[in-house]
Amino acid sequence: MRVVHSPLALQKLLKEEQGSIGFVPTMGALHLGHRTLIDAAKKANDIVVVSIFVNPTQFLEGEDLDAYPRKEEADKKVCELSGVDYLFYPDAASMYGNDEVSLNAPNVRGYIMEGSSRPGHFSGVLTVVNKLLNIVTPTRAYFGKKDAQQLMLIETMVANLFMNVEIVPMDTVREKEGLAMSSRNAYLSEQERTESLNIIKSLHIATQLVMKGELSASQIKDEMIGILEPLEVEYVTIVNRSFEPIEVVEIGNTIILVEAISGTTRLLDNIWI
Ligand code: PAJ
Repeated sequence: MRVVHSPLALQKLLKEEQGSIGFVPTMGALHLGHRTLIDAAKKANDIVVVSIFVNPTQFLEGEDLDAYPRKEEADKKVCELSGVDYLFYPDAASMYGNDEVSLNAPNVRGYIMEGSSRPGHFSGVLTVVNKLLNIVTPTRAYFGKKDAQQLMLIETMVANLFMNVEIVPMDTVREKEGLAMSSRNAYLSEQERTESLNIIKSLHIATQLVMKGELSASQIKDEMIGILEPLEVEYVTIVNRSFEPIEVVEIGNTIILVEAISGTTRLLDNIWI
């Protein structure tokens, strides 16, 4: 495995490679969720590139940019053992200049739900993912459905900007008790971790309600909010696969999303129905 820090050096190296390139962009503190994306990339492509970059432009003022878990040595090991060919590890100065062209998230779908709790966050995500895709020019890039709104906005960017890459959505990987794996789970105390399980409980109840024939989005939301206590609920939203809020669940075309705060940790989860 080659560890490359410079964007231009990586571009040059990858131009010399033959065959398909699978790319997994991450912010590090790698867990089994990330590893599932890497394994899928490995199976379907000749070359696998992973990036680790804690992207400053997607963190808002006062968020956990400085505290975000950084595990360079452990992450390198994970990548090496997973058969990664190139680990891209840039610093902020090589990725951003002082006076830049940047991308804005779409006005509606980029500023609802997580985009409303974190205004500007998705513009930072799209800007860095655009840069990363231009550096790596992968055949396929892998993203988790856990960050469903991020995934949808990246798919939208790729379509709107006519980018030549296949986006591969990957199912959410969970801990044994059901908590969606996340680098931020490391912040949770034992009690917060237990309370966080209310998120998956609420999503399971929502699925059961739908299976019993309850299709009213507001009824389902009310039930879920009751179960989420004592977590601080940022939103429970029911949308179709185009991310338009819906009143009636359409089986096969619905995503139920939750964002809740446990202690000071923001947790995201969702279920595709
Ligand atoms: P990060 O949170 O490190 O996640 C990297 C990728 O792993 C994302 O596509 C995310 O959806 C996926 N992922 C995270 N947890 C997962 C889980 N439990 N199961 C399956 N996939 C999971 O998302 C980002 O980084 C950044 O915003 C990034 C896209 C790299 C841009 O900076």
